[in-house]
Amino acid sequence: MFEKMHKGEADGTYSPHTTATKKPTLEAMSDVPSDLSAAVQELENIFTISSAKLNSITDHFVEELEKGLTGEGANIPMNVTWVFGFPTGNEEGEYVTLDMGGTNLRVCYVVLTNRRGEYKILQDKCPLPDGLKSGTAEQLWGFVADCTGKFLRENNLVHPGKKEKLPLSFTFSFPVTQANIRSGILQRWTKGFDVDGVEGHDVVPQLEKAFAEKNVPVEIVAVVNDTTGTLIASAYQDPEIKIGSIFSTGVNAAYMERFKAIPKIRSHNLPDDTEIAINTEYGAFDNDKKVLPRTRFDDQIDQESARPGQQLYEKMVAGLYVGELLRCVFLELHHRGLLFRGRDITAVQEKSGLDSAFMSTVEQNNTKSMAGIAEECKRLFGFEPELYELEVIRFLTKLIATRAARLYACGIAAVARKQGLERCHVGVDGSVFHCYAHFQERAAQALKEIMDWPEEDPQRITLVSAQDGSGVGAALIAALALRRSQ
Ligand code: GLC
Repeated sequence: MFEKMHKGEADGTYSPHTTATKKPTLEAMSDVPSDLSAAVQELENIFTISSAKLNSITDHFVEELEKGLTGEGANIPMNVTWVFGFPTGNEEGEYVTLDMGGTNLRVCYVVLTNRRGEYKILQDKCPLPDGLKSGTAEQLWGFVADCTGKFLRENNLVHPGKKEKLPLSFTFSFPVTQANIRSGILQRWTKGFDVDGVEGHDVVPQLEKAFAEKNVPVEIVAVVNDTTGTLIASAYQDPEIKIGSIFSTGVNAAYMERFKAIPKIRSHNLPDDTEIAINTEYGAFDNDKKVLPRTRFDDQIDQESARPGQQLYEKMVAGLYVGELLRCVFLELHHRGLLFRGRDITAVQEKSGLDSAFMSTVEQNNTKSMAGIAEECKRLFGFEPELYELEVIRFLTKLIATRAARLYACGIAAVARKQGLERCHVGVDGSVFHCYAHFQERAAQALKEIMDWPEEDPQRITLVSAQDGSGVGAALIAALALRRSQ
């Protein structure tokens, strides 16, 4: 196993799934006790996903996407966003945009200039206090309204005596049912949020009530998912974009569907070829556990989450969960007497104590001494692991991160396969996509394996860094919505 564990390390593109034999770089592995080595081997087996398995997951994914459009007992919601088609480039106007992400509330003032790709933006971020994610609806919306009001005042955007309110586009990155673009009934919280009194309710009147109470002169004109914002903002700059996706705390994608392919809204009687953006919410893929190669650690993460049984694909892939998966693996190895023997592991026992940033730091550290990894462990765990343990930490980190990247590729491949997209760009946003070492090349490699492109034309569908979805994307969507309503 040791030889296998190190192949490819030298060029920094190592993946536990790479089959080409490359030079082992670390002799330290020979010091790994054989019982630990056997345990790591078993982990390698359960966390490795072959090309064939990626393919069968993708096939099932396509079926689930189609089922979601019928609305009949599907796992994947395939939410209709009422965003009709891509921007033309002539959109104009001034908009306030709000983005309630996992860690920050971002407020922007966006001016669209009616020249494609040209816009001005002012922005500010307020960190979301932790307690807010599991508090009450009043606390949450009160905080959002306060930050918005402060931003408008600080930037002289409030004009006393002016009756007209500023149009506001609200990026609310959770699954919502929309009867139209300016409403959104929260289906369920995801990404660890658990705020009372919002599920099953329209978020628009709740937030507008808070704006009214705090005299914030805005009017919500659109509720937008982050993936839809990403799709629209990216396509505004790059006409090759056909899919918008987020790989961050959560994972999801949006794309344009034709009206005739969405049976669940047939009663709207629109022309067959009308294009409507679908927010897939495919983090919920395989909630009925038919195809994903789940491990005991995935079951544990799910059971300990705020919503067991929900978002099962997301919990195997996204940034919020991969660090926790790794922590659970460390703990199991410790309890079996194989890792961190005789150490005080109080800090490792702390829930959510490891995140994807830790994993990225580990992976960026290619030195033989692994000093950077040792330092990071000391900071987080309070002790410096042995050299062989550092090696195991690095291996397991790669294993879990590589599985995440490979599974992520299945969602993108499924949308492309379902839509018959032979070539296109996929606009991807999110901190994990941008910052995680090797993620992009691993996802690209997996896409290539799934799509089976010929050697001479290896990358027909490319993941590209997305443009600002929750700023300019949300503003464009507001402009499209206002134009349509006129
Ligand atoms: C979760 C949310 C979804 C969002 C994604 C990325 O999956 O349910 O709406 O797009 O995270 O932020």
